[in-house]
Amino acid sequence: MWGGRFGEGPAAVMREINASIPFDKRLWRQDLAASRAHVVMLAAQGIINGEDAQAIADGLEQVAAEYEKNGVPEDLDLEDIHMHVESRLAELIGPVAGRLHTARSRNDQVATDFRLWVRDAIDAVDAGLAAFQKALVARAEEQADTIMPGFTHLQSAQPVTLGHHLMAYYEMAKRDRSRFADARARLNQCPLGSAALAGTGFPIDRAATARALHFDGPTANSLDSVSDRDFALDYLMAATQCALHLSRLAEEIVIWASQPYGFAILPDDYSTGSSIMPQKRNPDAAELVRGHSGRIAGCMTALVMTMKGLPLAYAKDMQDDKPPVFEAHDLLALSIAAMTGMVETMGFSTGRMRALAESGFSTATDLADWLVREANVPFREAHHIVGSAVKMAEDQGMLLAELSLADLKGIDERIGEGVFGVLSVDASVASRASHGGTAPDQVRARIAEAKESLG
Ligand code: ARG
Repeated sequence: MWGGRFGEGPAAVMREINASIPFDKRLWRQDLAASRAHVVMLAAQGIINGEDAQAIADGLEQVAAEYEKNGVPEDLDLEDIHMHVESRLAELIGPVAGRLHTARSRNDQVATDFRLWVRDAIDAVDAGLAAFQKALVARAEEQADTIMPGFTHLQSAQPVTLGHHLMAYYEMAKRDRSRFADARARLNQCPLGSAALAGTGFPIDRAATARALHFDGPTANSLDSVSDRDFALDYLMAATQCALHLSRLAEEIVIWASQPYGFAILPDDYSTGSSIMPQKRNPDAAELVRGHSGRIAGCMTALVMTMKGLPLAYAKDMQDDKPPVFEAHDLLALSIAAMTGMVETMGFSTGRMRALAESGFSTATDLADWLVREANVPFREAHHIVGSAVKMAEDQGMLLAELSLADLKGIDERIGEGVFGVLSVDASVASRASHGGTAPDQVRARIAEAKESLG
C-alpha cells in the first residue's frame, strides 16, 4: 500500500509491532460503512465516475458478505483493517479499487471508524444499564418496607429499608447513563474528510458523509480531527465511573452473602462451589465484577498515558487506543449483565436484616430527636443523654426499647412514656419522610418516578 519509496519490506519484528489487525478487525463493520458513505459522496461530487463508484460499492458489499460469513482474515503484512478491506476490494474488482482512497487517509478513516464503534458501544451499555435499573426498581418495590440496618463506617447507624438501599444504586446508574449520553453527544461529529491532517484539495462534501453516517455534522478542525481521542477517553472515564458503582454493589453483595451477615443468598446460577470445602457457596460473580472494575480503570489510565504527550496531529502511538477501549467495553458489558442477573435473582434474609437493625441501637438518634422535639432539649445535650442510655442498655444486654421508663427517667427526668413510640425500627423508618428519605412512602414515590422515566 505504501511500497513506492521503499526498496525492501519490513523486518519481521517491524511487521509484528506495526500490525493492528489482530485487534482492529473489530472495526470492520464501521470501516465498510465509512467507505460506503465516502464512495457515494465521491461520485455525487463528480470526483470519481458513477460506474467506478458502483463497482466499488458492489465490491464493498461482497467484502462485507465474506467477513460476515468467514470472519476477517489476519495478514500482518496488511497492517490494519483499512488495508485489509482495500486489498480484498482490489482482488475482487481490480485497480479501480484504488480510487476509493481519494481524498481520505487512514488517519481520518480510523478516527471515523473508531467513533462509530464507540457510539455503538455506548448504545449497548445504555441498554444494559436500563435493564440493570429495571431490575433494581423491581426488587426495591418488592422490598420497600423491609427494614435493614443502615451503615456508616460499616457500623450500624440508623435503620433504613432495603428498597431505599437498592434505589441508591438506581441513582448511580442514572448518572452513569447521563455521562454516557454526554459522551455520545460530544462524540457525534464526523472526522471523515480531514484526510491525513490538513484537509484535502478535492471538492468533497463533508456534510454529506457526516449525514450518511448519522453524525450531527463534520468536525471543524482537520488537525484536531485526526489527533482527537477524547471520545474514547470520555467512554473510558464514564466506564470507569460506572464500574466503580458496580464494584461497590458487588462488595456489598459479597458482605451480605457472608455467614456473619447473612443478609443475602445468591442463587446457584450466580455462585460457585469449592473443590475442597463442600459447604462453600462463593459469590464469584460479584467478586469478578469488583475485580473487573480495577481492570477497567486500568484501561482508562492506559489511554490517558498513551495520549498525554503526543504532538499534533496523528502519531502511531494512537493505534494503541483500541485495545483498552475494547477490553474495558467487554468487561463492562459482562459486569452489567452479571450484576443485573444477581440483582434479579438474589434472595434476601429479611428476618436477619431486621434483627440486626434492632440490635445495633440504631434508633438512638430517634430518642435524641424526641428529646429535642418533645422536651425542648438542645440536640447536643440530647446526644449526651442518649449516649448514657445506650451505655446502660449495653451493660444490661438489652435493646434501647427494652429499658424501663424508670431506668430512662433515672438518666434524664424529661424522658416520658412517649419515647417508646419512636424507639422501634418501624417508627424510625416511617418518620424519615423528608424528600429522598427512607420512609416507605418516600421510597415508593421515587420508585414511581423511576418507573416513569424507564418507560
Ligand atoms: N492502524 C492505524 C491506527 O489504528 C491506522 C492509521 C494509520 N495511519 C498512518 N499514517 N500510519 O491508528
